[in-house]
Amino acid sequence: MTVSFAGRAVIVTGAGGGIGREYALEIARRGGKVLVNDFGGDVAGRGGAATMAQAVVAEIEALGGTAVANQDSVATTEGAAAIVAQALDAFGRVDALINNAGIMRNTFLAETTDEDWDAVIATHLTGSFRMTRAVWPHMAAAGYGRIVFTASSAGLFGSPMCGAYGAAKAGVAGLMNLAALEGAAAGIVANAIMPNANTRMAAQAGADWQARIPGLELSLPEGVGNAMDAGFNMPLGVYLASEACTDTQGLYSQCLGRSARVVIGAVPGWQGHRQSPPDVDDIAAHWGEIRGSVNGLDLPATSSAELAMVLARDP
Ligand code: NAI
Repeated sequence: MTVSFAGRAVIVTGAGGGIGREYALEIARRGGKVLVNDFGGDVAGRGGAATMAQAVVAEIEALGGTAVANQDSVATTEGAAAIVAQALDAFGRVDALINNAGIMRNTFLAETTDEDWDAVIATHLTGSFRMTRAVWPHMAAAGYGRIVFTASSAGLFGSPMCGAYGAAKAGVAGLMNLAALEGAAAGIVANAIMPNANTRMAAQAGADWQARIPGLELSLPEGVGNAMDAGFNMPLGVYLASEACTDTQGLYSQCLGRSARVVIGAVPGWQGHRQSPPDVDDIAAHWGEIRGSVNGLDLPATSSAELAMVLARDP
């Protein structure tokens, strides 16, 4: 086993189910001590119970691992502080943070209420910020840290009815850039994963799309097998949280067993004069160069398009 968490303490948020539970179990299997955080509510972020986090801690203990359960919300300053304080109390250190907690409320943009927008942004984007800010001084003092953010193709590519969710997830990618840049001097490595999994969240998205988008074909071909299981996403996220990963400021997609870096870059474009601004007509005349062409990269316009592009290749 080359990737070890022996002697390390890791906080995994939203680890009471789905992909987060897979991270927590594997880190414990590899010798790490895990704070299993989960607010324990429904997929829309309503309700709450301690049982989800407690059940995963029981699974880890049954494997002979070490874990503590936490039910605080990542979305509040007090919640984030309490999560980190509990990890420090239990383990005396925090070596890695996986910002995985998430909720989903699917509505068309024009129908999105302020309450839906605020709840989704608070959990994904503000929650990732609050957790990162809370672990930061402890990682900086230790001169070591790994922070894994959870972005999504719904934000980086696009997805219908996912306005608040997609905006939050694209924001998370921006936050990861900052954490990586500012963390470099302190030994803090930060990256983001864009997962794809048949969890309760994906089931909710599918149901919402089917209810509101006529004629939508959602079923994946048989050849996909179980490649949408949450466990397919786990290895990439766990690697990014480990000492073995020294690359920072990366965005990585896991899609049907395909792991790949996702890049945001610029085409060579059209270079105007540096002494005077271009005319609007110059922009129109050079539109082809400005849009440019990108060879060798998939450029999906939606989350579903990414799945289709990966599926179109032989495994
Ligand atoms: P999930 O719903 O099973 O897991 C999310 C967990 O976060 C839940 O257990 C929930 O109780 C917890 N949570 C929600 N709000 C919280 C809060 N304020 N504080 C603490 N915990 C909270 O869904 P899944 O799919 O495992 O999602 C994991 C992450 O992956 C999420 O960030 C999600 O947005 C992201 N993601 C998932 C994709 C998929 O295809 N399943 C695609 C792209 C991103």
